[in-house]
Amino acid sequence: MSNDPKEPLLLDHDYDGIQEFDNQLPRWWVWLFYITIIFAAVYMVYYHVTRTGDLSAAEYDKEMKAGAALKAAAMGNFESSLASLKPATDAVLLEGGRQTYVKFCAPCHRADGGGLVGPNLTDDYWIHGSNYVDTVKVIWDGVPAKGMITWKTILKPGEIEAVASYIYTLRGAKLQSPGKVPENLAPAKPAGPSSFE
Ligand code: HEC
Repeated sequence: MSNDPKEPLLLDHDYDGIQEFDNQLPRWWVWLFYITIIFAAVYMVYYHVTRTGDLSAAEYDKEMKAGAALKAAAMGNFESSLASLKPATDAVLLEGGRQTYVKFCAPCHRADGGGLVGPNLTDDYWIHGSNYVDTVKVIWDGVPAKGMITWKTILKPGEIEAVASYIYTLRGAKLQSPGKVPENLAPAKPAGPSSFE
């Protein structure tokens, strides 16, 4: 303890002039400290001794599995409802579809649907069938061998419906510049303006 009778709490060590009081710790602090020790013991037993609780990695796996199951169920539901789908006319939904189209589809089908790598979506010629359900199916499954992406792993069913509905509105659209000619009718040697514009 202290050598100084005037400061009984002053400890007698001195580091380069820095001295220390031997104060009582506040009770709330001491209790908090005990609680952390108890918490640590309980935590240790719960997670590492009895292994009752899942560690983060196991929790992550469980949630990913549950998510995958939900997704598979939603995809299954969508596939079984495919045949009865109708193009949406709701303006908000179509606007969502337009945004998806601009972002994901325009690079291959041109912003106005006129076609680039992918075929023209505004004409009357369809490789995979011209009705709305055919359109949804080809977007859903894609045609990987021909360069059309399988969108079911990228877009949600609702997004695919929206973009398909948007494409539906492009049918017969007047294009600013000539669109791509239908593959099966395209001249062997592209030359001059096409008769399909
Ligand atoms: C990487 C280029 C590419 C992208 C991106 C792409 N497509 Fe395609 N798409 C194609 C090609 C190529 C075909 C033709 C497939 C064939 O010849 O069978 C096609 C075909 C289609 C068809 C069928 C047309 C027909 O005549 O039957 C639809 C509908 C379609 N795409 C919609 C979309 C939508 C919607 C998106 C965006 C979500 C999209 N595509 C994005 C390349 C693409």
